[in-house]
Amino acid sequence: MHKITVVGAGNVGATCAQLLALKELARQVVLVDVIEGVPQGKGLDQWESAPIEAFDTRVSGANDYGPAAGSELVVITAGIARKPGMSREDLLQTNAKIVRSVTEEVVRVAPSTILVLVTNPLDTMAYVAKQVSGFPRERVIGMAGVLDTARYRAFLAEELDVSVEDIQALVLGGHGDTMVPLVSYTTVSGIPVAQLLNRKRIAELVQRTRDGGAEIVRYLKTGSAYYAPAAAVVQMVEAIARDKKRILPCAAYLQGEYGLEGIFLGVPCKLGAGGLKEILEVELTAEERAALEKSAQAVRETIGLVQAVL
Ligand code: APR
Repeated sequence: MHKITVVGAGNVGATCAQLLALKELARQVVLVDVIEGVPQGKGLDQWESAPIEAFDTRVSGANDYGPAAGSELVVITAGIARKPGMSREDLLQTNAKIVRSVTEEVVRVAPSTILVLVTNPLDTMAYVAKQVSGFPRERVIGMAGVLDTARYRAFLAEELDVSVEDIQALVLGGHGDTMVPLVSYTTVSGIPVAQLLNRKRIAELVQRTRDGGAEIVRYLKTGSAYYAPAAAVVQMVEAIARDKKRILPCAAYLQGEYGLEGIFLGVPCKLGAGGLKEILEVELTAEERAALEKSAQAVRETIGLVQAVL
């Protein structure tokens, strides 16, 4: 790509910019933030690592959207991060207003861009960005499932003492408490995980995955996870920038898939040039379907709460 902008030069945004540059996924990476000097300083610092890391991606920062003009992809991480004891929903109103204003600015300077949403509560912020931008669903995608599956895969790899690369997993639904892990689609190099691990242990690892964000917040106290979230974003961006047509769990706008409509929810997506190329519908058990419906209901309720901001 020619230019990728990352809005929010905090922990997730800055880490994202660095990984995008290291992988040379664009010729230019622009960091935008409201805090004076921070995006400029972090951008320059990263650019100064280029001769050592041997990348030619020009990283820079700004407090306005001028340098973001013509971006082909914009990652939105702007917002307030979750503090200990704070639910994702507590963040709702503040972050909805931030995402609304960021989206308005981005649309003005980069009307053809693809938006990748990271700000929490993710499924609802993706909805806000879609409503405000008026973009088709191909160009508004949320990052959640790649992170949730990465956590789940890391825990399984540790438990089974095998390579993380050999664990494939699929997580659907909302990001966080209502996430729907599909155990029947979890394999270790094609071997169903249920043949290698008992149900009780799998359930414990699923629960740890569900609480994965909170576990990090408990340690960090003043911030939330960012290394794995940034890596997850960059995997999605790479699939799009290199037109890899990867099948990744992402938050996508549903138009009848899984019997759901008008909300963003985590589903298996094909990502390639242009953004979301396809949503894959997989068979679900009655229990999984019920969990997905519950997840959808939770997202609908949150969307109801942000209507005033739209
Ligand atoms: N425009 C641009 N940047 C903004 C705006 C805005 N209107 N409002 C806030 N920001 C910036 C903040 O100044 C801050 O630098 O967003 C950045 C957020 O960074 P952090 O506080 O470090 O939060 P981070 O850990 O990066 O998480 C960002 O991603 O995973 C989610 O839940 C997380 O919603 C949170 C987001």
